[in-house]
Amino acid sequence: MSYLLEVVDLKNLPPAETVLSQREQAFYQTLKLPKRRTEWFGVRLALKKLLSARTGKALPDFTLLAKERIGKPMITVGEKEFSIPFSLTHSNGYAVAAIAPDAKYIGIDLEKIAPRINAWKTDFFHPSELTQESDEFLTSLWTQKEALVKLLGSGLTVNSFDVRTVNGAPVFLGRALEIYTALGSPKITLEKLDLLPGFCFSVAVGK
Ligand SMILES: CC(C)(COP(=O)(O)OP(=O)(O)OC[C@H]1O[C@@H](n2cnc3c(N)ncnc32)[C@H](O)[C@@H]1OP(=O)(O)O)[C@@H](O)C(=O)NCCC(=O)NCCS
Repeated sequence: MSYLLEVVDLKNLPPAETVLSQREQAFYQTLKLPKRRTEWFGVRLALKKLLSARTGKALPDFTLLAKERIGKPMITVGEKEFSIPFSLTHSNGYAVAAIAPDAKYIGIDLEKIAPRINAWKTDFFHPSELTQESDEFLTSLWTQKEALVKLLGSGLTVNSFDVRTVNGAPVFLGRALEIYTALGSPKITLEKLDLLPGFCFSVAVGK
């Protein structure tokens, strides 16, 4: 499959100025919660390693900032957008970035396998998706859904019932389908990877 991944262990991070651009450093100062700071920094380190290996540029040459305080960031070099399909995720001490240079879209999600309360299942999953009950199955199902909403670029602003996987294949309904259609109805490959022990990880690539 046509993507590259970089995993960062959030326990050992380099100094901010060796990774972040000036504009990112200014935003980083405004992040107060240690978990949010570390994860925000970690995904940028992961993505910049991939971008640096591809271009030969230094890590601080790239800036990844979102329009709002949360949301999908845009990559810029100087004033110009650096265009490449990418996706970011963080969970329980790890940050992961992916790029898909030969594809149009990518979405990834990492999640630690853990027991879930019943309301979480019924709030986020349509009954047709709940074909198994194990923590691993449900966590994996969740990562597939999140990978897909990241590929769409909508995040969970779409109804989670409108992004489903049926027998491992994505199904879009409602506003999710409108967004998917507006993207040109790319052919999506959804893959589950054993990336880290105790975690589920999904990658959705759209061509
Ligand atoms: C975007 C979303 C899928 C993030 O998932 P998550 O499991 O919370 O977090 P992850 O670590 O997997 O991914 C976070 C990264 O996704 C990226 N991201 C954020 N919004 C995105 C979007 N609309 N599309 C693609 N990627 C997005 C960001 O890079 C973010 O990392 P950063 O903020 O440190 O830069 C989802 O939580 C969401 O849509 N949130 C906004 C709506 C919301 O708050 N809903 C509340 C119910 S959860």
